[in-house]
Amino acid sequence: MQKLFTDPARAARALAHTLDEVEIPGLPAPQRGKVRQSYDLDAGRRLMVTTDRLSAFDLNLTTIPFKGQVLTELSHHWFERTRDICPNHLIAVPDPNVTVCRRLAMLPVEVVVRGYLAGSTNTSLLTMYKGGARRLYGHGFPDGMRDNQRLDAPVITPTTKGDHGAHDEPLGPDDVARLGLVDAATWDRTREHALALFAFGQARARERGLILVDTKCEFGVDPDGTVVLADEVHTPDSSRYWDGATYEARFAAGEPPDAFDKDMVRRWVRARCDPYRGDVPAIPDEVREETADVYCDLFERLTGRALVPPAGEERPAERVARAAARWVADNPL
Ligand SMILES: Nc1ncnc2c1ncn2[C@@H]1O[C@H](COP(=O)(O)OP(=O)(O)OP(=O)(O)O)[C@@H](O)[C@H]1O
Ligand SMILES: [Mg+2]
Repeated sequence: MQKLFTDPARAARALAHTLDEVEIPGLPAPQRGKVRQSYDLDAGRRLMVTTDRLSAFDLNLTTIPFKGQVLTELSHHWFERTRDICPNHLIAVPDPNVTVCRRLAMLPVEVVVRGYLAGSTNTSLLTMYKGGARRLYGHGFPDGMRDNQRLDAPVITPTTKGDHGAHDEPLGPDDVARLGLVDAATWDRTREHALALFAFGQARARERGLILVDTKCEFGVDPDGTVVLADEVHTPDSSRYWDGATYEARFAAGEPPDAFDKDMVRRWVRARCDPYRGDVPAIPDEVREETADVYCDLFERLTGRALVPPAGEERPAERVARAAARWVADNPL
C-alpha cells in the first residue's frame, strides 16, 4: 500500500525515546490504565496522558513511536467533528500526548459497533459465528456468511467492562438495562450516539479510501445525567480499519483484507511463544518501527495531514510533565 506522507526514517529515529512512564510533580497520584495515566484535577476535570505503550494478551509488550500522539490527536480530530452528533469529554489538548477532559461517571459497558463479520478474539462476531452460533449479542445471523463479510446493517455488541484481568462478557441489546448496568433511557441514548458516531466515522473513512470496520466507544454521564462520549474515539486502538481500495477484490478471492492494526506484534509474539504462559521475548525494533508506520499512516490518511513530531520529542516524559503542569497552572478554576 502506498504511504501518504510518512517520512521513512521518522519512526527509526524515535525508537529510542518513546513515552512509557511519566511523573508529573504537583499532581495527585495517577490512575494507571494499560495505555493511559489519568490524574484527577479540581472542578471535575481529569488529565489523561496517553503513553506509547502497546498492550496485548493483557500484557504491556513494548512501546511504539508516536502511538500516544496518534491516539491523542486522532481522538481530538474526531471529537471536534462529532460534537453535533454527541457531546464529548474534551476540554483541551495541551500536548500531543495530553488530554484534559471532564471527569465522568463511566458506564460499566464497552459499546462496540460492528459493520463486518470480523475479528479474532473470543468476543468477536467471526469467532463466535465460526463456532456455530447464529444468534450473537441478541442479533440473528444467516447461515453461509463468509469471513469479513459486510453486515446488512451495523450492530451494537456491548460487553461488560471487565476490571483488570477480568474477561469482557458479551451482552444482548436488552441485557444492559435488564441487568441494571445502565438505566433504560440512558442506554437508549447511548445506543443512538454509538450508531451515529459509527455511521459518521464510516462515511468519513470511506472518503479517505478506508473502511471503518468496527469501533469501541466508552461513554459516561455528567452530573446532569447527560450521556457524554469519553476516552478515545475511532483510533487504531479502539477500532479496526481496512484498506477500502482492495477490500472487494480480496474478499471475492477469499483473502483477508489489508488491515491497519497492531496485529503484526501479536503475530510476531504468537509465532514464538504462548503469551499467556511464560515469558514473551522483547519485541524487536523492526517490528516496533513497522507498527509505528501503520499508526502514522492511518493518522495521515484519515486526517489528510502529516503527523508532526513535537518539539522536545527527544525527552517526551519531561516535555509531557512540563506541558501538563503548565496547563494546570494556567487554568485554575
Ligand atoms: N472522561 C472520563 N472520565 C472518567 N474516566 C475516563 C474518562 N475517559 C476515559 N476514562 C477511563 O480512563 C481509563 C483510560 O485508561 P486506559 O485506556 O489506559 O485504560 P484501559 O487499559 O483501557 O482500561 P483499564 O482502566 O481497565 O486498565 C479507562 O478506564 C477509561 O474508562
Ligand atoms: Mg482504554
